[in-house]
Amino acid sequence: MASVLVAYATTYGSTREVAEAIAATLGEHGLDVDVRAAGEVDDVSGYAAVVLGGALYFFRWHKDARRFLDRHRGALVATPVAVFAMGPFNDTGDELDGARKQLDRALARQRWLTPVSIAIFGGRFDPTVLRFPHSNPAMKKMPPSDIRDWTAIRTWADTLPAALGLAGPATDG
Ligand SMILES: Cc1cc2nc3c(=O)[nH]c(=O)nc-3n(C[C@H](O)[C@H](O)[C@H](O)COP(=O)(O)O)c2cc1C
Repeated sequence: MASVLVAYATTYGSTREVAEAIAATLGEHGLDVDVRAAGEVDDVSGYAAVVLGGALYFFRWHKDARRFLDRHRGALVATPVAVFAMGPFNDTGDELDGARKQLDRALARQRWLTPVSIAIFGGRFDPTVLRFPHSNPAMKKMPPSDIRDWTAIRTWADTLPAALGLAGPATDG
């Protein structure tokens, strides 16, 4: 059974929950899946494919996602990689486009990497849990929101086995 790593870079946990939903969908496709915090992964060489997701903070992809690519470049050059970023508080075209540009800037620094698939998902914002350096009065006054679209997340995950080259042979049912 092909094994896949779903690695996530999170500060407040919403990206981990998305990573877990993606992993569950990949499992339904018959793949053997590990879900791990990107910062805690020492070795990716045993995986047939990697899905890497990270939240966006202050117009940048989470540092644990960026460092993951730096650290594991040697193994990942020969491994199919799909990426996603989480961020927008509103699922308007403008916010999603802005988030995509933020992710593209991070990916442009990794010229060796050609992701097989890229996705942007809306994020979750909870002003009550913010810690330094996010816990400023203006942020604390913003309303909570959670626009994670679980259908869109699972729909994207359903495309990954084929995109990662891990789809099993077609059966007649
Ligand atoms: C201080 C702060 C800065 C943020 N900056 C951005 C940003 O620049 N772009 C964006 O799309 N989302 C931004 N977000 C939204 C987060 O990416 C979103 O809340 C995400 O779901 C958080 O993921 P996490 O719970 O895994 O840490 C920001 C959120 C906070 C709290």
